[in-house]
Formats: sequence, structure tokens, C-alpha cells
Amino acid sequence: MMREKIDQLLSEVEELKAKSEQEIEEIRVGLLGKKGKITQLFDDFREVLPEQKRELGQVLNKLKTAAAQKIEELKSVLDENPETKESAYDLTKPGNFFEFGSRHPISITRNEILSIFTKLGYAIADGPEIEDDWHVFGALNFPPEHPARDMQDTFFVTTGDNPILLRTHTSSVQVRTMEKVQPPIRVVCPGRVFRNEAISARAHCIFHQVEGLYIDKNVSFADLKQAVLLFAREMFGENAQIRLRPSYFPFTEPSAEVDVSCNICKGKGCNVCKGTGWLEIMGCGMVDPNVLEASGIDSKEYSGFAFGMGVERIAMLKWQVKDLRHYFENDIRFLREFKTEV
Ligand code: DAH
Repeated sequence: MMREKIDQLLSEVEELKAKSEQEIEEIRVGLLGKKGKITQLFDDFREVLPEQKRELGQVLNKLKTAAAQKIEELKSVLDENPETKESAYDLTKPGNFFEFGSRHPISITRNEILSIFTKLGYAIADGPEIEDDWHVFGALNFPPEHPARDMQDTFFVTTGDNPILLRTHTSSVQVRTMEKVQPPIRVVCPGRVFRNEAISARAHCIFHQVEGLYIDKNVSFADLKQAVLLFAREMFGENAQIRLRPSYFPFTEPSAEVDVSCNICKGKGCNVCKGTGWLEIMGCGMVDPNVLEASGIDSKEYSGFAFGMGVERIAMLKWQVKDLRHYFENDIRFLREFKTEV
């Protein structure tokens, strides 16, 4: 009786199959658990007549070993062929999606500015963030001790004759470019700049600028206006208007500040343009002959224009972001807003 049960179970064990870890566990409990069939047989074994014990004990142990081995085998088959696992893999479920990152809004804006000018034939130039006084001020017609230096609060790295400092504007790259190449020159220079300013909604001690420089024979103020108008229309829409207000920069003469018609109220006046209908976007002017000469360019033969704009400022106007600090905090909820832009 017992012997038949054992043989019967042995052949059942050999045939066992399982599709999931859960099924294997059920099999284990059914055979070797507290109330499992094999455990039960061991209980019955106590009642067996002494003369049968030896033979039955052997086959019973064989059955137990065979069951344990089979369970291990089922487990390893399942591990090697995960596609047969039912519970872990539901092929009708949608896949896992990788979330794409997005470009930072400052990068998006900078790239857009650069692509407008590269289409016009400008090359991209860059220069060091840690500069000397000559490239940031001296060569740009800021005389020593001149109060115009106070327009930009500078972080100094060293003191002395030609101190090392963190550049306060990307106009320094104009100088680096003019030192290296002779006209015609058409470059845009993107980069980080540093000023010792208290951080607020409208100012930061680190920000980004794009500088432009165009030098050739017979370059006029009309050329400057045309370049700036074209930029404004590409950036803010084809109906954008510009207005130039006289201004002062040591490195340009004449100098101007450029306003673009407010793209929010279309010039009617709103709280972004403070009711004026205009938004300030950049400084510009005709390169001062002293600046050309300081970098070895003959100011009798060549003339040129330059402009400089803050990337954060353009980005704030474009997306109506009211607080500059958003661009530096990298709050993922803010950055996600720019997901669709490349
Ligand atoms: N460098 C100026 C600034 O940081 C911006 C600027 C104004 C650049 C006029 C220019 C320019 O090239 O012509 O405030």
C-alpha cells in the first residue's frame, strides 16, 4: 500500500512543471510542507512493520530527495527562461518609458540667439571667464580710474597693474577676437559673466550674455539697426518693432539702448512693459575707434558695430518669467515646462 503510494508520487514528481515562482511554492508545500504528501508518508512510516522499514525507508528517502531536486530544477528553469514566468511578465502591459530630459531654458534661448546670427553669417567665438583688466576694461576704452568701471561691480582675483578678474561682460571676447583676426569680422560671443550684485528677482551675480561684433569697410549705423531689427523679428515675432535710445558705453560711439515693442500687449501697455509698450533688450553702438586701434585694427580703414544682450533677460521676456532666480534654482517642475523645446 505504502510502496504504491511512494512509487505513484515518484512518477508524479518527475512530471512536474511550473510557470511561476508561486506555482513552485505551491508544489513544495503540497509535497514537503507540514501537511504535504511526503511529510504525511513519513508520519505513516512510523506505523510500518519493522521488517519493511529498511526497504520502505530507502525509497521514501529517495522520493524526498527527488522532490527537493525537482523543486530546485523548476526554479532554475524559471530563472533561465524568464519569458515563461507568468506573474512577472505580462506581455499585454505597456512598456516602461524612459523620460527624456529637456534643455535648460537659458540654453534654449542662447541657441536661438546664436542660430539667428549664424544664419546671417556670424561665427561663434568664445574667451576665458577669468580675464585680465586689459581685455575687460582697458582695451575697451575704460581709462584707469574712470567711473565707467563702476557701472559693473567686479570680482577681482588679484590686484596690481593688470589685475585678474571674473569678466563682467562678454565684450572682452571682442578684444580677444580682434587680437587674433583681421577684418572682416562677424562674431557672436556667448558666455557667462560675473558681477558683485545682490541676488534678487531682477539681478544675479552670475548670468549669461551674447555679444556681437561686426567689423568691415564702410559699416554704418544703418547696418547696425538692420541687424538688430532682424534679430528682434526672428526672436519676438515678425511684427516686432524696435526703438533706439541714446546711451553711453565707453567702447561704442555713438551708443544706444534697444527696446522691442512689448510682445505681450502688442505695444498697448501692460504690467510687463510697465505701461510703456516697450521692453529693453540690449545695448549697442558703433565700435569706438580707440577700441579698434587698441587691438591693432586701422580705424581709418575699418568701422564696425557691436551689441550685447543678457540671455536671462531675453528668456524672461520670451516666456514671461517674472523672477530671474528660477533660472538658477533648477527646480525640476520649472525646467519641465520647457520640455517640448529643443
Ligand atoms: N557690455 C555691455 C554690458 O554688459 C553690453 C553692451 C553694450 C555690449 C553695448 C556691447 C555694446 O557690445 O555695444 O552692459
